[in-house]
Amino acid sequence: MKNCSVLFVCLGNICRSPTAHGVFEAKVKAKGLEHQILTDSAGTAAYHVGNPPDRRSGAAASVRGYDLSHLRARQAIVEDFYRFDYILAMDNSNFSDLQAIAPQDGKAELRLFLDYATTVATSEVPDPYYGGDDGFGQVLDLVEAASEGLLDVIELKLRSR
Ligand code: 4NP
Repeated sequence: MKNCSVLFVCLGNICRSPTAHGVFEAKVKAKGLEHQILTDSAGTAAYHVGNPPDRRSGAAASVRGYDLSHLRARQAIVEDFYRFDYILAMDNSNFSDLQAIAPQDGKAELRLFLDYATTVATSEVPDPYYGGDDGFGQVLDLVEAASEGLLDVIELKLRSR
């Protein structure tokens, strides 16, 4: 059993949240914390269930040394609120869709992922799906910053136990 669990959520689970999943997982591994921290991702919608990440997300991640090829999309479900310590939404719309299914007795802390990006002024990770290739690099910039902030917070918590 892991000591801490994190679920990243966007709309389709093929662009932003798998990017967050792959980047955060790599940062966890680089610190040797993979036996303590469970990482997963999901989408609020079911459009892409079972699909690998969008080719453009995979390509942009691979330029920075992250591998997303093992990931497959799934939909976020009510049980996730009992399984995960943190459920982190990429934008306000994902946040309110999650809030709408959150059980009152769930253990998960539901937050916007960019709450943890101390060096970033925006609060949402913009959806890159219908935009140009630039959008995928921007997603990575935001996701890298927030992953570092989140990992700092979780490391402090793990050490204080
Ligand atoms: P994501 O991006 O939420 O970052 O995975 C999207 C992927 C697919 C769609 C929308 C956003 N779509 O409408 O199919």
